[in-house]
Amino acid sequence: MASLFRLKQIVAEADRPHAHRLQRTLSWPHLVALGVGAIVGTGILTLIGVGADRAGPAVIVSFVVAGAICACAALAYAEMATMIPASGSAYTYSYVVLGEIIAWVVGWSLLAEYTLVVATVAVGWSGYSVGFLESLGVHLPAALTHGPVMAGWQVVEWGVNLPALFIVAVVAGLLIVGTRESATLNAVLVVVKLIALAVFVAVAFPHFDAANFEPFAPFGFTKAMSADGVERGVMAAAAIIFFAFYGFDAISTAAEEAKNPSRDLAIGIVGSMIACVAIYMLVALAAVGALNYTRFADSPEPLALILREIGQPRTAAFLAASAVIALPTVILAFLYGQSRIFFVMARDRMLPESLATVSRRGTPVRITIFTAAVVTFFAAFFPIDQIAALANAGTLTAFAAVGICMLVMRRRAPQAVRPFRAPAAWLVGLGAAFGCLYLFTSLPHQTQLLFGAWNLIGLLLYFGYARRNVDKGAA
Ligand code: ALA
Repeated sequence: MASLFRLKQIVAEADRPHAHRLQRTLSWPHLVALGVGAIVGTGILTLIGVGADRAGPAVIVSFVVAGAICACAALAYAEMATMIPASGSAYTYSYVVLGEIIAWVVGWSLLAEYTLVVATVAVGWSGYSVGFLESLGVHLPAALTHGPVMAGWQVVEWGVNLPALFIVAVVAGLLIVGTRESATLNAVLVVVKLIALAVFVAVAFPHFDAANFEPFAPFGFTKAMSADGVERGVMAAAAIIFFAFYGFDAISTAAEEAKNPSRDLAIGIVGSMIACVAIYMLVALAAVGALNYTRFADSPEPLALILREIGQPRTAAFLAASAVIALPTVILAFLYGQSRIFFVMARDRMLPESLATVSRRGTPVRITIFTAAVVTFFAAFFPIDQIAALANAGTLTAFAAVGICMLVMRRRAPQAVRPFRAPAAWLVGLGAAFGCLYLFTSLPHQTQLLFGAWNLIGLLLYFGYARRNVDKGAA
């Protein structure tokens, strides 16, 4: 029983076998770019439409709620990432602070999060790329541009999302070439993405009409079932929009590749989070103010649609092109993060150890290929709102765990060196833990069931394989 809660000791880098070491090539501008690159993506570009469908104009409030909870989690992450600058993110913190079985659940949830985020963003990319191609007069057969359309558990229209498949393959190839090259390219693409959003705000704001905010919250605040079988409300939207805010956690998975982790990780996490909250508030206000939400709620490319509807087709094409070029930064950051979580869990013998070897170029090739294969399955065959909601379930679990880890460490080791101390630690820690719990209860019921099933499979694997394998390693 005690071994279920055994704590991990961090192994000093110098004591690790060479094949288990990652190269330190990243400095803080790379980390901020990695953060913004991972945060600004399908959430603001595509899920803003799904959020508006769930909450009406009050999706603005959903942004505030989700942003506040994510800000608490980001501060807790910054404290933990600089205290324990080892790869593995929330999984590693939970292993060091809360014990093995909790670490397994968190690691297993992170694997779901990262896989499904990559799939969601690939589907978002597909929406903008199909729209962009159409603006050039190129029309793909509809059945090859989206996954099956579902109503509850029923498929009402079959399809396979080919563009989503394509982009995952391209980014996985890039990652296999090497981390440093990818991080530099990422920084350039982040700038493209930020310029596109700035242009959107500048062009949409002059069309601001207060009438578009009436009625403000047609579906109320808490999650409730609508007549069409969809769960709606400001909180139901917040639970989806939450997707837009995370990504800073991907920075902490780069801890073993950062040149100066104790300073640079805090700058990366807090800096990228603050920048993104500000950008989102502007974009969301401009979008909802420019066009009645019912007209862009179910669009696969809502921001481009808004620009077209207000008579700006050229700007719409520019925005779509920028999304097509720059959205892959999110895929890159999460595919990178995913392979690192996998790598660390394998190194801990929770997953087959043969996976924890890096190639001569310093990248874990096998894991990257395996992850990409799983991702393409979800990207090709699942609708965006469902995979995003499931990704959120995994992330919420990890964020709640990090909030709790921070509070436990404040009690257990109040004098320990903390290169970054979260302000108002109790408010921040409890805000992250309870905020995430509340968002989890606001997710669609179907998502909660699927996530429960995922963790049940995980626990079977833990008791059937991981636990024994870790024991063998310790013996
Ligand atoms: N925050 C990231 C996005 O919105 C995951 O795409």
